[in-house]
Amino acid sequence: MIPVNEPLIGEKELEYVSECLKSGWISSSGRFIEEFEQKWANYCGMKYGIAVSNGTTALQVAVGCLDLKPGDEVIIPTFTIISCALAVIYNTGRPVLVDSESRTWTIDVSKIEKCIRAKSKEQRAKIRAIMPVHIYGHPCDMKPIWELAKKYNLVIIEDAAEAHGAEYLTGHCEPEERSNLNKKWRKCGSLGDISCFSFYANKIITTGEGGMVVTNNAEYAEKARSLRNLCFTKERRFYHTELGHNFRLTNLQSAIGLAQLERIEELVEKKRWIGKMYTERLKDIKGLQLPVEESWAKNVYWMYGVVLDESTGIEAVEFAKRLRKNGVDTRPFFLGMHEQPVFHQMGLFNGEHYPIAERIARQGLYLPSGLTLTEKDINTVTKAVKKSLKNDGVKKLS
Ligand SMILES: Cc1ncc(COP(=O)(O)O)c(C=O)c1O
Repeated sequence: MIPVNEPLIGEKELEYVSECLKSGWISSSGRFIEEFEQKWANYCGMKYGIAVSNGTTALQVAVGCLDLKPGDEVIIPTFTIISCALAVIYNTGRPVLVDSESRTWTIDVSKIEKCIRAKSKEQRAKIRAIMPVHIYGHPCDMKPIWELAKKYNLVIIEDAAEAHGAEYLTGHCEPEERSNLNKKWRKCGSLGDISCFSFYANKIITTGEGGMVVTNNAEYAEKARSLRNLCFTKERRFYHTELGHNFRLTNLQSAIGLAQLERIEELVEKKRWIGKMYTERLKDIKGLQLPVEESWAKNVYWMYGVVLDESTGIEAVEFAKRLRKNGVDTRPFFLGMHEQPVFHQMGLFNGEHYPIAERIARQGLYLPSGLTLTEKDINTVTKAVKKSLKNDGVKKLS
């Protein structure tokens, strides 16, 4: 079976981890934590890095920096992982959902303002932030999001969990005569006021479990450090004026992260190579939508997602079964937040519909995209895709 993902761990990771073990610095103090934080922040083009236990807690800490009042709202895409909604809810806020656009599967920026304007003035004042999520390695179109954030005074919490090394071309939709002046490629993670990463084993660089918050804002950085570590007060230890968490990353995990970061260019290039190889082989198949790379984006193809056209008569569940029979492992696309029973039980999103998110959740899956993938593996997957798409009369699943 060709696995959907495999991390690439090398000698350097072993060397750094054994240094931790030998030195006894195995918890959340030690040289690797600060070095990893600072080097990751530098890599993203940001000032401060705050390492945390995973991407979910990174989002929770980032939203925690806003001091939401109960009922304050944060705009998120419905097509994302539940971590985004949880971060808002655990901070007493309310997620407000927006559909995706059909080419990149990221939040549909044209629908964000409609969503804001549909609210009364009072309700509008409750919207505090917007959370763009770069889906499967493709950046969101940030310029309209920056404009909306300015217009409505919103904080941008960027979820770059899946987009290590991805880039966005600023100024891409400036008027022609100004465009060359303002064009500049910026890394995902440097596009929000506070940005979040995951270093789970399937991410481009990994620490096993882990995450990071990055920001240029000194106040957010201080607050995030405090929230991560039980909100100990500086003046007096074991004296607390706020509720915090233990979301610390260990020196051991940071050692792995630092070793991974030292080879990130190679890892990002490998992902882009996998993306290119798949696209070359699958581009002429009818009824199969492939990932894109918009002219203003550097896609890192974290996972190579495909969406079956409804005309194929096959849904992703059936497609995954057929691929598995042919030795290829896959994962389904996200299921929208508005389709989650747990939120319906809480009285959230009942009766809401987002047609793009619903279609891609039903018709989409991602193919093996791990860093150990070879050209031979990609050829095997391609063959399996072609074979599995031949409709042999198997009925469409409901
Ligand atoms: C977009 C996105 N945000 C957040 C997370 C949460 O990260 P973690 O699994 O490290 O908690 C993930 C996880 O894959 C993700 O894909």
